Amino acid sequence: MKNNIQDKSKLVNSVFSEVYKKYDIMNDIMSFGVHRIWKQNMMDWMSPQANSFLIDVASGTGDIALTYSKKLSHKCKISCVEPNKEMLAMGQKKLEIYDNIKWHKANAERLPFKDDTFDFYTISFGIRNVNNINLTLKEAFRVLKTGGRFMCLEFSKVENPLIDMLYKNYSKIIPIIGEKIVGSKRPYNYLVKSIDDFYNQSELVSLIKKNGFQTVKFRNLSNGIAAIHSGWKI
Ligand SMILES: C[S@@+](CC[C@H](N)C(=O)[O-])C[C@H]1O[C@@H](n2cnc3c(N)ncnc32)[C@H](O)[C@@H]1O
Repeated sequence: MKNNIQDKSKLVNSVFSEVYKKYDIMNDIMSFGVHRIWKQNMMDWMSPQANSFLIDVASGTGDIALTYSKKLSHKCKISCVEPNKEMLAMGQKKLEIYDNIKWHKANAERLPFKDDTFDFYTISFGIRNVNNINLTLKEAFRVLKTGGRFMCLEFSKVENPLIDMLYKNYSKIIPIIGEKIVGSKRPYNYLVKSIDDFYNQSELVSLIKKNGFQTVKFRNLSNGIAAIHSGWKI
């Protein structure tokens, strides 16, 4: 088990070290720009208040931090958490003009913050990549204040069989696009497999509840290609 965890951590880190320069452009190409709408949907459902404190975990190049900050006209504080040094450097550079946004090199399973610190916790296309999902959720619960909200955006399971078939066929060409743009199929073979292996909507609801959250709900996006999960620390 320990070896598997170390192997996953190394694999995930090497995948993001391979794609970081083209991460943003590949997201736009692979999703036809739809990932931006999904991220905005999460922000709209979250409906954050001015002067709130967000922790964005698995921040990558900082899309969620930027969307949140803009929504609140930058009247907020944000801690971005990202373990991959190249992704973190890209994010830091992209958001360097925003001094309300701070970056921390750390893992979701061990957050370098005190209990009851944040009003909101977000993790966007990150939870699928962590080593230990239960530890990740426990840490999310610990660092949120009572009354704080957990929001997760992640690939999920398509509900309509016809759309599922089309999506599965489309997934087969993603590594080919990756090879053309990034120069390697490997990160995109990982992406497709990790989506396939991940929990469905209701399994993720159960895990979030099991780790302490209440009023856990989800909303499908694009027929379940992705889903947003929400839970509260009450
Ligand atoms: C697909 S990117 C998502 C980036 C961004 N949140 C977005 O929505 O575009 C996933 C990120 O998770 C990070 N990651 C991988 N393992 C992690 C872990 N154990 N804890 C926190 N982040 C992790 C990766 O380094 C990568 O930057």
